Amino acid sequence: TTTYPFYGEHQSGITTPAQDRLHFAAFTVSPSLDRVGLIELLSDWTVAAARLTAGLDVSEEGALGGPDVAPPDDTGEALELPASGLTLTFGFGPGLFEDADGADRFGIAVRRPPGLAQLPRFAGDALRPEWSGGDLCIQACADDPQVAVHAIRNLSRIAFGRASISWSQLGFGRTSSTSTAQTTPRNLFGFKDGTANLKLEDRAAVDEWVWAAHDDVAWMRGGSYLVTRKIRMVIEVWDRQQRVEQERVIGRSKGEGAPLSGGSEFSEPVFDAEGATGEPLIDPTSHVRRAHPSNVGGVRLLRRGYNYVDGSDPLGTLDAGLFFISFQRSVDAFVTVQNAIATDALAEYLKHVGSAVFAVPPGAREGGFVGEGLFG
Ligand code: HEM
Repeated sequence: TTTYPFYGEHQSGITTPAQDRLHFAAFTVSPSLDRVGLIELLSDWTVAAARLTAGLDVSEEGALGGPDVAPPDDTGEALELPASGLTLTFGFGPGLFEDADGADRFGIAVRRPPGLAQLPRFAGDALRPEWSGGDLCIQACADDPQVAVHAIRNLSRIAFGRASISWSQLGFGRTSSTSTAQTTPRNLFGFKDGTANLKLEDRAAVDEWVWAAHDDVAWMRGGSYLVTRKIRMVIEVWDRQQRVEQERVIGRSKGEGAPLSGGSEFSEPVFDAEGATGEPLIDPTSHVRRAHPSNVGGVRLLRRGYNYVDGSDPLGTLDAGLFFISFQRSVDAFVTVQNAIATDALAEYLKHVGSAVFAVPPGAREGGFVGEGLFG
């Protein structure tokens, strides 16, 4: 079983090879929380997260070591389970820096990263407040869903009275590979997803596109920006399209995932390649054409999303899609790409129903706490 360190230069769960399962939680801070209380919460979370990611109970007393007559510290469902590659990644939403009344409750407004703001409205957005926003977030990824759920549950218990979960999302089947050592998985439309993603082995590109820009606020150095988009897929309509139409929409073949201009999975797409009758082999409205760096001023994102199925809706259609997660050097980088794809050929089969954005501070040092630089 794999164990990833909690402490380090960067938080784990970003360039970490994507695990199979996700539990993502967004939190609202309680109205009575003050600066000291927020620092205590982040310190408590840090100590607990370092234990959980090592495969331990949430505290020393844990599930069974406490007094007989007290509720156990740890809820117990991960007893006997190994660390399972658990990573816990913490983020700060725009609302932490200025609440709904414009108040700077934690004395951190001057340190707000200039780019950290709610995302603009995009064409086709159908956002629901119950899957959007958040003052704090925790991304738990693991190869065992029970381990990820156990971590979120126990961290949320620790936050009791200080912050509460406003929404959370379970995901399965990573939809991106973030390492060249991983095979490319498929999303619920049946296409390979993650082929042209940033890979941790490409250090130069990761340094340039994932970690916060050098002109950003000092405490974000080594950090990143996280965007979540809950994207409902209109599965039933998609499933009725001919395969060649599905391939036109994506711009890649369904089998190997090769660009329609030819070659194999990892060949570069050639956008001016033409077929026998002069038609472009890769449709100019295809997802890959619109999202490609050559169409968005060179911008690249680290995609790290998961498939989700939240059961069926009352009409019997699957409530399913992609819980899109990306990490990037700035919120602006995401906005640029999302604007380019908001009206691509794929958008017809999608509904963006949730959206959130968070500043992800650098990794914590041992003895310190996550986000410490924000308060120094
Ligand atoms: C590429 C599917 C949403 C950005 C791809 C590929 C597929 C795909 C199949 C080609 C394989 C690959 O390179 O990974 C989907 C589906 C989506 C979705 C089904 C929604 C349900 C998004 C969103 C963004 C995005 C919201 C960002 C705003 C990209 C980028 C690429 C890509 C940057 C790589 C383009 C390149 O360099 O060739 N997507 N995607 N996608 N997608 Fe998406």
